[in-house]
Amino acid sequence: MTSYKELGLVNTTEMFEKAIKGGYAVPAYNFNNMEQMQAIIQACAATKSPVILQVSKGARDYANINLLRNMARGAVEYAKELGCEIPISLHLDHGDSFETCKDCIDNGFSSVMIDGSHFSYEENVALTKKVVEYAHPRGVTVEGELGVLAGIEDDVVAEESTYTRPEEVEDFVSKTGVDSLAISIGTSHGANKFKPEQCTKNKDGVLIPPPLRFDILEEIEKKLPGFPIVLHGSSSVPMKYVKTIIQYGGSLKDSVGIPEEQLRKAAKLAVCKINIDSDGRLAMTATIRKTMAENPGEFDPRKYLGPARAELKEMYERKNIDVLGSAENA
Ligand code: G3H
Ligand code: 13P
Ligand code: ZN
Repeated sequence: MTSYKELGLVNTTEMFEKAIKGGYAVPAYNFNNMEQMQAIIQACAATKSPVILQVSKGARDYANINLLRNMARGAVEYAKELGCEIPISLHLDHGDSFETCKDCIDNGFSSVMIDGSHFSYEENVALTKKVVEYAHPRGVTVEGELGVLAGIEDDVVAEESTYTRPEEVEDFVSKTGVDSLAISIGTSHGANKFKPEQCTKNKDGVLIPPPLRFDILEEIEKKLPGFPIVLHGSSSVPMKYVKTIIQYGGSLKDSVGIPEEQLRKAAKLAVCKINIDSDGRLAMTATIRKTMAENPGEFDPRKYLGPARAELKEMYERKNIDVLGSAENA
């Protein structure tokens, strides 16, 4: 048993209180390996931003929970070494069962998501409540979800999204005791968030997606004033990375993300945690493909992972400053 407090980590309570007051969102960046984690911490220390290090079930399977926990412990020291003591939370992304959440809580996570959004409302309430009852006495914060995002969340694939019903949110929060709520207002996971037929094209032929449902977000905010809302599926799918990947032999089709101005607007409203994974994957893949193509004789992984890490850092810094607004809030 390891408590997150022994690791120097924090839960999300204070982070979210400050984010709501300050009109910004805390970045929740997924990581699976050392280079991703280094880039996240370098960027958040440089911009003085709080950060949520996010671990999916896929990341646990890939990297091992003991290593991930000790990387998070190392991240706290690493940020100090870089000259900025930032609040760091280690969060389970899309927890699929009570057992997974319990295992993470017992292994030093400071926050967990229990994603019961694919169950009936009653089952979602019961499961979420059970996780909260285990987490809260241990100081761990819990994120629940209402509404279904289209796309792939770990092993679960949803063809269509179901928007969150504002009339359910008060009942869900009061019955479960969750600390934050993920909602569905038009975002989705992955690099193909919209079908081309849902989009319009600008003069350069770039696909422009339909706007997020800010009307639903505002309704939810009225029902739960000051309550932390979470937006999953918030990658913007930068065209520069898509183009580089294609230029250097990759095949990506119909890639569309969430425009950054819309994320900025959401962060100024009730959204105080924004989840980004795919953009990191695109930045790394684009840089590695380009570096390898331009240096065909190179076979030292540091020579292509290093540039990928540097690109990631730059991208996260820009997001903290221009999109989430979390910079200078550590
Ligand atoms: O919500 C999904 C995240 O992007 C994690 O994806 O399960 O492939 O690690 P993953
Ligand atoms: P993206 O696929 O848009 O990066 O979303 C990540 C996410 O929501 C992780 O939970
Ligand atoms: Zn997600």
